[in-house]
Amino acid sequence: MTITYKDSEGIAGMRVAGRLAGELLDYLAPLVRPGITTNELDRLAEEHTTQVLMATSAPLNYAPGGHNPYPNSICTSINLQVCHGIPNDMPLKKGDIVTVDVTVIKNGWHGDSSRMYMVGEVSVAARRLCNLTYEAMWKGIMRVKDGAYLGDIGFAIQTFAENHGLSVVREYCGHGIGRSFHEEPQVLHYGKPGTLERIKAGMTITIEPMLNVGRRDVKEMGDGWTIVTKDRSLSAQWEHTVLVTPNGYEVLTLSPNGPPIPAFVGADRQG
Ligand code: MF3
Ligand code: CO
Ligand code: CO
Repeated sequence: MTITYKDSEGIAGMRVAGRLAGELLDYLAPLVRPGITTNELDRLAEEHTTQVLMATSAPLNYAPGGHNPYPNSICTSINLQVCHGIPNDMPLKKGDIVTVDVTVIKNGWHGDSSRMYMVGEVSVAARRLCNLTYEAMWKGIMRVKDGAYLGDIGFAIQTFAENHGLSVVREYCGHGIGRSFHEEPQVLHYGKPGTLERIKAGMTITIEPMLNVGRRDVKEMGDGWTIVTKDRSLSAQWEHTVLVTPNGYEVLTLSPNGPPIPAFVGADRQG
């Protein structure tokens, strides 16, 4: 799959899909409470996507090479789970942190976004991880600009994370996105400035760092999907879908009730 560049029609389609992904995460926010199961969240997400957003869930039956089809509409990754957690019948409990990762397809275009939800009151360490991972994502987004390098994004994220004592998961990365869920290029969350591919206006990419409190090493569980930290330390992930513009970027998965954009981002290269 090569890099695709979106014309004005593609950009319009990606804006709609991105907005709906953000809306879905807004819809789920108040539902993530102690006692609810991730299967219930999955069912409600599927219902909202199909009945209200009039869209479809990209993860459901997604089967990239070598994988068994993903069985659900959302990914829910709890505590030590890094990504691709499969919903189940265990109730969430106070103190859990949960990544909910959604991807909606609207008129053939994909919008991909994840957020951390804190279940009731969580530990100081868990809250710090969630907040720093959110900031790390934005440190990466801020580097997006026509003519910059993909390595600039990874370097910004890795530097910020490691300066705060967190580690960056290497095995999973951001990606181009459009009519396909996962397109080129890969968007690494670590690296060196001025390296890798040039970022060009019209590209739509995701930035989705996974940061761990402990070591960066991860392993796959027996279900073929769920990824956990090897040392069982907490992990967090945030994701936005971003359009590259001539002067910077436009975040496509923003939503009315998402968390505020960090003050350090400023207004200069947005839009
Ligand atoms: N949404 C994930 C991403 O950000 C991919 C999930 S694939 C699935 O790229 F099959 F697990 F849903
Ligand atoms: Co993604
Ligand atoms: Co995602």
